[in-house]
Amino acid sequence: MSTNDILSILERASYFSQLKSRKSYYPKILEGHIIANLFFENSTRTRFSFEVAAKRLGAEVLNFDSESSSLAKGETLYDTLRTFESLGIDVGIIRHSDDHYIESLRDKHEFQVINAGAGKFEHPSQSLLDLFTIQEEFKTLDNLTITICGDVSNSRVAKSNINALNKFKNNRIILSGPPELMPEKADLPTGCEIMELDKALEVSDVVMFLRVQHERHHLFELDTSKYNEEYGLNNTRIKILKKDAIIMHPGPFNREVEISSSLIEHPQSRIFKQMENGVYTRMAILEWLLK
Ligand code: CP
Repeated sequence: MSTNDILSILERASYFSQLKSRKSYYPKILEGHIIANLFFENSTRTRFSFEVAAKRLGAEVLNFDSESSSLAKGETLYDTLRTFESLGIDVGIIRHSDDHYIESLRDKHEFQVINAGAGKFEHPSQSLLDLFTIQEEFKTLDNLTITICGDVSNSRVAKSNINALNKFKNNRIILSGPPELMPEKADLPTGCEIMELDKALEVSDVVMFLRVQHERHHLFELDTSKYNEEYGLNNTRIKILKKDAIIMHPGPFNREVEISSSLIEHPQSRIFKQMENGVYTRMAILEWLLK
């Protein structure tokens, strides 16, 4: 997506957010459209916020449950998607554990495909809602210092946010976390630097904590309280944070690991705000795709 595409989606997300107290004003621009949530990997936030977004704009939504589907009888993924195509869906919102499967569907089906999380590769709608949350706070997406902390090497959220933040001007992107979960120096994404967390917090406008993805790595022995002490946001570390900085986390979060329970709803936390903004942003994404 171009920077202008991103900004126009964020502008529409802002418009939808302003209709929050007048839900009947939501334009039913997706009436007659059928949208299928095709999640081959677990989700709560992404799946249901796409569903709420689609329903608010008048679409009908199908929710595919892989465990009770014919995949369990040996049907292939390709045949499953061709089936939904035959049923006449307009959009397939797909999450898959393979990094490149969703990308490989480009131009292969008659329905539009939205990437709702691809392996360790990309999570673009999460990034757009994160940008919306940051822009809402700072009124800009330029000249910011953003620290992304935790399981960076396994995180599709980190990759999409780094790509997106690099499209704006003069952003400083700091990565922080245990060496086992950080990219090798040679693979460090463009525009990123690595810094110890306490130092990074002193200068950050946004600090984005990531979930330790136990299911994606098996070599890293996790001592949760040690992780919280060294790399998590805890009651000692919060004192270093700038007073106008915001705390983010895409969720789901491991309480007491990357963030102490008592800080999840701290006044500087925007974690639940991100979830609310996910609905407005996904309304804007659906509108942009189908308009
Ligand atoms: N942030 C996010 O993708 O959450 P879910 O896995 O619950 O969709």
